[in-house]
Amino acid sequence: MRIVLVGPPGAGKGTQAVRLAETLHIPHISTGDLFRANISQQTELGKLAKSYMDAGNLVPDEVTIAMAKDRMEQPDAENGFLLDGFPRNVSQAEALDELLETEGIKLDAVLDLEVPEDEVVKRIAGRRICRKDSSHVFHVTYSPPKKEGVCDVCGGELYQRDDDSEDTVRKRLEVYHTQTEPIIDYYKAQGLVVTISSLGPVDEITRRALEALKRDEDTEK
Ligand code: AP5
Repeated sequence: MRIVLVGPPGAGKGTQAVRLAETLHIPHISTGDLFRANISQQTELGKLAKSYMDAGNLVPDEVTIAMAKDRMEQPDAENGFLLDGFPRNVSQAEALDELLETEGIKLDAVLDLEVPEDEVVKRIAGRRICRKDSSHVFHVTYSPPKKEGVCDVCGGELYQRDDDSEDTVRKRLEVYHTQTEPIIDYYKAQGLVVTISSLGPVDEITRRALEALKRDEDTEK
């Protein structure tokens, strides 16, 4: 399957992507995680991305599209992928369509995670991520690690993302509404959007997502 995950900051995209990718046997491709890996390795791309991310803005399309394309062309993504955080505006969605068309493949679904803004703020305020691998995500109240400040998965140090400050989150939400939300209509026009509520226990949302994707697949047959 080839799936795009969309939703506001803190909707639970990363949390759900890890589980869905494992169940569906496809790689989880997160442009946010790819940028954070570049930042921790202090690459030129990381330095450039950090200045945009810390301000809550989108990293320029040119570098983002090239990075996403490179990752999607890796052998593990040959038979499918779950994109998390890409595309994030209509021009990235158009670039993705062009890329897929060149390869003669299509997206199967765009999974839209809906969550109210006050919940987003609570989730982001308590989020802690792993320094070794930013796809290892915890929450001080909703999903606490067994040992405070230590990643359950790999023992890495947990920290609060630089772009999770209150001001930056407000900016990221504004960018989501103005630049990212329009891709939902873009994909609705292609009949690809499946919307679910991202409120409730994490396991329940995963179940909801898998059911919605299956229903969507059955409808297409
Ligand atoms: P990115 O890393 O993609 O961030 P985001 O889209 O803002 O999303 P988040 O990671 O904040 O939230 P999430 O939905 O993954 O939620 P999570 O699962 O962690 O992007 C960061 C930046 O990189 C962007 O601002 C931009 O600058 C740049 N960038 C990335 N892609 C780009 C692109 N394509 N183009 C240009 N720039 C790009 O969950 C949040 C918290 O809630 C966690 O603590 C979790 O434990 C908790 N939680 C999850 N589910 C539940 C639940 N059901 N109940 C209670 N708590 C829950």
